[in-house]
Amino acid sequence: MSDALDDPLAREKDLAARAAVRRVRTGMRLALGTGSTAAYAVRAIAERFPGGEGIDAVASSRMTEELARSLGLGVRPLAADDRFDLMLDGADEVTPRLELTKGGGGALFREKFLARLSREVAIMVDHTKLVPELGHRSAIPIEVVPFARPVVARQLTGQGYGVVLRGADTASGVARTDNHNEILDLRPPRPVHDAAALEASLRAIPGVVETGIFVGLAHRILVGLPDGSVQEVLPPGEPRAR
Ligand code: A5P
Repeated sequence: MSDALDDPLAREKDLAARAAVRRVRTGMRLALGTGSTAAYAVRAIAERFPGGEGIDAVASSRMTEELARSLGLGVRPLAADDRFDLMLDGADEVTPRLELTKGGGGALFREKFLARLSREVAIMVDHTKLVPELGHRSAIPIEVVPFARPVVARQLTGQGYGVVLRGADTASGVARTDNHNEILDLRPPRPVHDAAALEASLRAIPGVVETGIFVGLAHRILVGLPDGSVQEVLPPGEPRAR
């Protein structure tokens, strides 16, 4: 990919994606994430498994589905009894405790839904995504039912959050997710010391469908580094072999 060669961060994403795709085996059930790094993974899968031979995959967004199909990888709808061997996805932020912020690409609901059905979730990032605590680098997105959104936004503003309705300031207008909902991008009023508590408090607000805070869902992080290597980060205390 020429952009992978030209842009250092794109190269790191591609390196991380290729390292993650080395975990894919014939016959695996895969959950495919969304975003530019997940797209590198889809391309690497298409390279390793031409025509999608031996791969059974479900995508977390229409964007990923279309990319996979364009590369000859079959992607099917979610089935009632689906479980996945491996989910490959990107993230906007990763802490040393493997908490994540996701949803920069708007697919947070489906990404989290598939992650919960996956035996292993491998997250692929460039080195700039590593943060000490969530909220350092990115806003925290929440997916909200459009009917409820004005009330939810006012409530959160009242609690001191910076609240931006995604797409509202663009020519194309307010963004809609694949589930026809809207996204509020939140800047928390204080550092996020307890991601699980923040996740629970946001989820408890009526009208909030899902949050981009992922706690206890990632099993391994593959970080592309500027020197061309890939660092693997596991949950604290977990032995390397898995
Ligand atoms: C998609 O909704 C997101 O969760 C992405 O995985 C996240 O925003 C990372 O995106 P990039 O891989 O494009 O940086």
